[in-house]
Amino acid sequence: MNLFLTGASGLVGAAVASAAARRGHRVIGVVGGYAGEIPGLAKKIALELADETALHAAVLDAFPDAIVNCAAVSVPEACDADPARAQVLNVALPAALARLAHHVSARFIHLSSEQVFDGSRTAPYAAGDPTSPINLYGRQKLESERAVHAVAADFAVTIRAPLLMGDSLGGKRSVHERLLADWAAGKTPKLYTDELRQPCTAENLAEVIVELCEWRDVRGVFHWGGAELLSRHALGLRIREHFKLAEQQAPLAAITRAETPEAAKKRQPCLALDLALLAGKLKTRPQTIAEQLDGLKVPPPVRDWYFKQG
Ligand SMILES: NC(=O)c1ccc[n+]([C@@H]2O[C@H](COP(=O)([O-])OP(=O)(O)OC[C@H]3O[C@@H](n4cnc5c(N)ncnc54)[C@H](OP(=O)(O)O)[C@@H]3O)[C@@H](O)[C@H]2O)c1
Repeated sequence: MNLFLTGASGLVGAAVASAAARRGHRVIGVVGGYAGEIPGLAKKIALELADETALHAAVLDAFPDAIVNCAAVSVPEACDADPARAQVLNVALPAALARLAHHVSARFIHLSSEQVFDGSRTAPYAAGDPTSPINLYGRQKLESERAVHAVAADFAVTIRAPLLMGDSLGGKRSVHERLLADWAAGKTPKLYTDELRQPCTAENLAEVIVELCEWRDVRGVFHWGGAELLSRHALGLRIREHFKLAEQQAPLAAITRAETPEAAKKRQPCLALDLALLAGKLKTRPQTIAEQLDGLKVPPPVRDWYFKQG
């Protein structure tokens, strides 16, 4: 099938391009500023996605069977820094893509976030549970879900994704890439012992997305994540162990939410996700942390530093 992919240079988008190409699909990928190569793309288009007219023309030109929206302002702090730009990318863009998907009768897959919940309970959140975002990013993601399903309830899937692991194109985007960059720069990352997350890799999420492009019977909002819940600090320790780094080479500071009360107001204590609804429909399985770590590469920006560590 022809797949129109926004955010093709991002952590998830690049993984979707590879996964879709592996399964024999033709991927037309939209990038913003990224100038490098993207494995799996049949065609790369540089486009300002805030420009609805140009987007409209690009979608009509591609006339895709499926549209996958991986473009976003995906970091909560970046949304706070420029709320108007984030609103365009996080809300207006998915709404426009949903309308375009309707226009060309394409399947539509949109990405939302676990951050539509406040994380104040420890029981896993089911997709139908009441939402209660505590930061702008979470509010925008929730608004995007509603905007998409207002026009695309019959053919759209929104996936609420968790904290993401995996290998990004630039090697600077995912959890292990950011930790290794800090260690290479001589820093000691501070990680919460009392913020629990259920990470998955971008590659595993991409398999889910491609399966959902191929299978049009599934519609609505679903959760995806990994098979295990753990603290950010515990995840940092697992990453350090996986890369066989010693404490002196890769120090980690354990912090608690109580030590940063202002920041904690916008951060969720526990984001456990109930995956049963989607996992029951797909071949792709949620992965354990060990399985996720297994696939991780040493990111190019820190290779020199890493291989000097012995
Ligand atoms: N990363 C996570 O931990 C995480 C967790 C849960 C949910 N999500 C959601 O998953 C989706 C994918 O996230 P991600 O982490 O893969 O994002 P990302 O790595 O930050 O990539 C964002 C993508 O959006 C593109 N983009 C941004 N503004 C653009 C513009 N004005 N015009 C054209 N392209 C633009 C970027 O293109 P260029 O780089 O080429 O400019 C890039 O390809 C998002 O909806 C995000 O909210 C992410």
